[in-house]
Amino acid sequence: MSKKTFNIVTLPGDGIGPDIVGEAVKVMKRIGEIYGYEFNIIEKRMGGIAIDVDGTSLPQDTIDAALASDAVLLGAVGGPKWDHLTNGDRPEKGLLGIRGALKLYANLRPAVLYPQLKHTSPLKEEIIGDGLDILVVRELTGGMYFGEKANSPAYDTTKPDTWASDLEKYSVFEVERILRKGFEAARKRNKKLCCVHKANVLESSRLWRSVFERVKLEYTDVETSELYVDNAAMQLVRNPRQFDVIVTSNIFGDILTDEASQVAGSIGMLASASLGDGTLGLYEPIHGSAPDIAGKNLANPLATILSVPMLFRYSLGLDKEAKAIEDAVNEVLNAGYRTGDIFNKEKDDPSKKVGTKEMGALVVAALK
Ligand SMILES: NC(=O)c1ccc[n+]([C@@H]2O[C@H](COP(=O)([O-])OP(=O)(O)OC[C@H]3O[C@@H](n4cnc5c(N)ncnc54)[C@H](O)[C@@H]3O)[C@@H](O)[C@H]2O)c1
Repeated sequence: MSKKTFNIVTLPGDGIGPDIVGEAVKVMKRIGEIYGYEFNIIEKRMGGIAIDVDGTSLPQDTIDAALASDAVLLGAVGGPKWDHLTNGDRPEKGLLGIRGALKLYANLRPAVLYPQLKHTSPLKEEIIGDGLDILVVRELTGGMYFGEKANSPAYDTTKPDTWASDLEKYSVFEVERILRKGFEAARKRNKKLCCVHKANVLESSRLWRSVFERVKLEYTDVETSELYVDNAAMQLVRNPRQFDVIVTSNIFGDILTDEASQVAGSIGMLASASLGDGTLGLYEPIHGSAPDIAGKNLANPLATILSVPMLFRYSLGLDKEAKAIEDAVNEVLNAGYRTGDIFNKEKDDPSKKVGTKEMGALVVAALK
């Protein structure tokens, strides 16, 4: 019998992107060997490398391949080489472009702090307990980042009556579909969902609240709560362990995901997913292209490797295989292996400080 084949487009991008995506691909391939799948890896260009080779940050060929694939795995884009382009293109434009082309409107950012890495969180041990595992589901295509923008006709910032505005506008359709993503994610986790809004002040948030109160009746297996965004920001540092899944708007999610990632410690460990209506999704580490350590075998590949379990769960429906990767990462951390960014001089064994390739190989070897 022929093996089930999944077509995965990889976009290594710039800086450390190729190093870390390479390690994640090895992990995927090994899972294929163990569990009997074929992962057909289709590498495409995006970002600075695409500007250099194709003259655009997002070649059509990359969009076409991504649209025809089962899932897309991205490294990172950008770097000083492309910071001063004069033609209006930028590596990051490729990222926005591909999200638009794939119609991705939900950004899922887990903030996971492994107990072995408690020292990387700025919070006290009594608050962190045995580690953290929060998922923030952020709406990605609506709200004031995309709402109507306006300036006073005579725009002069030395004049007190000059004004500017960004419209925070959401439709029921946009809110309902992201809330459902939140509920579905909660069902795959600890079945707790907190909707974050500012319904005491904002009309748009009152719409969020009202849709939330209707939709939650369909998910009676999920425990629900609501928080005003200012309180949510406070609770994330006071008592982050109360959260399982948080669902919120574009701007609130932008701020809360950054806060949650700091609470969870090293950016070298954090993955993310962007999803649309079908199963096609884009998976990537939350960090950038780290040009300062590119090509030096210093980058932590775990954020990208941990993007693969998300890809497996949300795009391919491979839950058992996803868990196998998370268990392997846990095992490698338990054995004391650390890349430089998560190495603690006081506590960790210097003989177990490893580079990108070694960390990738350790995870591959630990897969069961
Ligand atoms: N999604 C993306 O592709 C994305 C996201 C953020 C920034 N960027 C781009 O990346 C470039 C660099 O941005 P930056 O320096 O602000 O952020 P960055 O995340 O690339 O790096 C910040 C710091 O964290 C370190 N770091 C990041 N990832 C690491 C890893 N896996 N292992 C070990 N250390 C790691 C870096 O060495 C650096 O010291 C810029 O061009 C920026 O526009 C891209």
